[in-house]
Amino acid sequence: MYAPRMKKAKSEYLVLAGLLKKLAPKIGARVLLEPEWHIAGQIRYKDGSNRYFRYNTLDLNPVGASDIAKDKDYANFFMQKMGYPTIRGKSFFSDEWCEAIQSNRNTKAAYRYAQTLGLALSSSKGSPVIVKPNSGTQGTDVTLVHTKQEFFRAMKKIFKHDRVALVQRQVRGRDYRIVVLDKEVISAYERIPLNVVGDGRSTIKQLLARKARAFIASSRDTRINQSDARVKAKLRHQGQSLGCVPHRSERVYLLDNANLSSGGDAVDVTKEIHPGFKKLAINLTKDMGLRLCGVDLMIDGNISEKPNKYWILEINAAPGLDHYVKTGKAQQKIVEDLYLKVLKHLAR
Ligand SMILES: Nc1ncnc2c1ncn2[C@@H]1O[C@H](COP(=O)(O)OP(=O)(O)O)[C@@H](O)[C@H]1O
Ligand SMILES: [Mg+2]
Repeated sequence: MYAPRMKKAKSEYLVLAGLLKKLAPKIGARVLLEPEWHIAGQIRYKDGSNRYFRYNTLDLNPVGASDIAKDKDYANFFMQKMGYPTIRGKSFFSDEWCEAIQSNRNTKAAYRYAQTLGLALSSSKGSPVIVKPNSGTQGTDVTLVHTKQEFFRAMKKIFKHDRVALVQRQVRGRDYRIVVLDKEVISAYERIPLNVVGDGRSTIKQLLARKARAFIASSRDTRINQSDARVKAKLRHQGQSLGCVPHRSERVYLLDNANLSSGGDAVDVTKEIHPGFKKLAINLTKDMGLRLCGVDLMIDGNISEKPNKYWILEINAAPGLDHYVKTGKAQQKIVEDLYLKVLKHLAR
C-alpha cells in the first residue's frame, strides 16, 4: 500500500474523506474508508455501482486527460492549439535528463531563452521571468527571478524534484480559480499571495510567525517557511527584510505565487463572475476532456467584467473545494453542498 503524504493526510484529506462519508447517506450511498490512513475510499451507490477516491482525486476525470492536465507543458500545448491564451514560455531539462534523451535544452539554454524574455544580467532593470517545475503543485518552487544568479539557483532547486522546468514570461493581474463540474461553474475565488499586515510594532518575521500559528490553529494545510529564499528575495526587491517593521495596516507581500497552500488568501467571487468567464472555463474544461476542473486564470482586470486581457495559468484535474471551509458555519455549508453535487455527478 502506498504510504500517504503524512502532513497532508492528517489534515485536509482527512476532512475531505470524512465529509464524503458524512454526505453519502444523503443520496442513499455509503462510503467505505480504508481504515489505516483514512484517505482512500469506495463510494457504494444504491444502484450497485462503485466509485473510488484517493486524496482529492475522485473518479470523475478520465485518466489520460488528468495526466495531460498534470503536465503543464503538454496542457499548454493543447490549450494553445485550440486558441486559448496561454503564457509565452518553454520547457527545459535537467542535465541528467538532457544526457538521457540527448537534448541540449539544458539550464544554459534556458537562461538564453530567459534573456529573450527580457531577463537582465544583474540589475532589476529587465523583466523578471517565472521558472517552475513542469509537474509541480501547490506553488512549490514557482519562482519569480530577476537576475542570472536567482535564475540558476531556482533552476537547480527545481531539478532536485523534477526533470522538466518551465521558463515563462511573468503575466500580471489578478489570480483566480474557477471550478467547473460538468458544464457548470460551482465555485470561483480570487487568490492573493501570502502577505502580512503591519501593526506598527512587529517585524515582518514576527507577523509571519503569527500568521503561521493562525494557520495551524485553524488546521489549514499550508507550507509557509520563513527561510524560503523566495520570501527573502521578494522582500529584498521591495527594499525590505524580515527584520523590518511595517506601518500599521501596511500590507507586505511575501510571495509571487498565489497558491492557497503557500499561505495565500481566498476571496469568493462565485456570485460576481462574468458570464464570459464562466463560458470560457466551461469550454476549456470540456475541451481538455475533463468533468471536474480548476481553471486558473490571470486576469488583467476583474472577473466581473467582460473577458478582455487574460491568460490561462494552468488547469487542475483534482481541485480541492474546501478552500474556505475553515472560516465559518455558512462556508461549511457551501462546501458540503459542493461535495454533495460532486457525489451526485460521480454516480453518472
Ligand atoms: N507566468 C506567470 N506569471 C505570473 N504569475 C505566475 C506565472 N506562473 C505562475 N504564477 C503564479 O504562481 C502560481 C502557481 O503557478 P502554477 O503554474 O499554477 O503552479 P502550481 O501547479 O504549483 O500551482 C500561480 O497561481 C500564479 O499566482
Ligand atoms: Mg496552480
